[in-house]
Formats: sequence, C-alpha cells, structure tokens
Amino acid sequence: MLLSIVVSSCYWTPADVFYFSPASFHSTTDTSHKLSPHVDNPYRDPNPGFQLLHALENKCVVTGGSLAVDGFEVARQLREESPEMFRVLSTVACRWENDGGDKSTALVYFGPQISTNPTTGEVEQIRYSPKSGGYAPALTNPEEMDLLFRARRRFAELLNEETNTVRFHVRENDIWIFNNLRVLHGRDEFDTNEGTRHFQGCYIDVDGVQSAYFRSMYLLQEEKRTGERATNDPGERNFASSAEKWEPAK
Ligand SMILES: [Fe+2]
Repeated sequence: MLLSIVVSSCYWTPADVFYFSPASFHSTTDTSHKLSPHVDNPYRDPNPGFQLLHALENKCVVTGGSLAVDGFEVARQLREESPEMFRVLSTVACRWENDGGDKSTALVYFGPQISTNPTTGEVEQIRYSPKSGGYAPALTNPEEMDLLFRARRRFAELLNEETNTVRFHVRENDIWIFNNLRVLHGRDEFDTNEGTRHFQGCYIDVDGVQSAYFRSMYLLQEEKRTGERATNDPGERNFASSAEKWEPAK
C-alpha cells in the first residue's frame, strides 16, 4: 500500500546528509558536528510532517549516534511545571526562517513554539530549532516579554535533558521514520576516520500517512466482513474497467 507522497523541500529531494568539507557545506547537517535536538523546516508552510532518514552507508558505529526527544512529553512537563510558561509559548508566534545556506531561498513562517488544538487544548505540534530562527517578537508588555524569554530557555533546557533523550544508532540500510511535528531529532558528533556516513532523507505529509492508516483499517474490516482479501492498492485496481463504468454527470 502506498504510504504517502514525497513532498518537495528547499533541499534536494531526497536530500543527502553527507560529510562535506568545511569550505563547501551549506548546512551544519553536512558536517560531522553534533546536532542538538531540533525539528526540521519550521520555516516551511506547511511544516513537513513525517521524516524518513535512510542510512545508505554508515560505517560510524561508535561515534555519530542518533537521538530522539518526544516534544509532546516535554511540553506536558513544561505545562505541569509552569502553566504560564506553557501559555506564552503556545500563543506567541515566533519568526522561523532559512535562506538555504547560500541565499537561494527566503523562507519565512510565523508560528508558536507549541501549537495546541483550539478546542481541546491538546498539543499538536512542536517548533524548536536553534538553527532556524525562532526569533521572538517585541511584546509591548515588558513582563510578558521577560516571561517569554524565560519560557524559551526553560523549554530548551527540558528538551536537552538527558532523561528526555532516547539514544540509538541508525544502522546501515535502516530507515528511521518519525513525526517531525512531534519528535525532535539530533546526533552526536561523528569521527570521519571511522568511515563514510551517508544518509538520505525526505518528508511525507501527515494526512497521507493518516489516510493510509484508515484505508488499511477499512480494508481489514471489509476482509473480516466478507472473509475475502480486500485491496485498495492503485497497482491492483483495474483502471480500465473503472473507466468504462464511469459516466459524466448530466
Ligand atoms: Fe534535521
């Protein structure tokens, strides 16, 4: 079953994550440096949903470990610790931006660090990336401005807490898939003497994945009801017979 459609990004699609010489890299991703937890592309509209990272080659088995942080859980911790800090981070829109590393793009998006559902108050999205702007607007109330800066600092501390971090190695040929709106990712510095580390990444829309989930569920229900194998896969559909049956509206 088709999972979703790959969406274009301001980098190549799929984008290579490879070690470039310091003189030629466009992004810190293309260095061997450590990357602290972040979400990708908070400056895009819409912000990309699921991310796929494919380890085409990874000889770095000692250095260059990956890390993941559940942003929803950290937002929950902040909300419990300080409802006021949570409020300001979920209501004040910051400016996220990126110029492609060489001014080939001028992408700007305004959004809060924590997005919530206006009806239920549930956390729906995290925006946090020290390398993609996140600039605070000038607020007219100095107390609110002070609160915003303190909240940003505390949120960053919690996101970087070791107790909130899951560490693992993405092995060669593995594909790591995660929801970029919820899970922050990063890596340890890697030693290029260990060998080549070549990842390729792309993004797919969340609604495509949700659609695939519901299609699968409906098919399973149909199979249960009829006792026969059901399919909704375009590759298995008979388009010719569908076209013959189709009649334009009168
Ligand atoms: Fe990233």
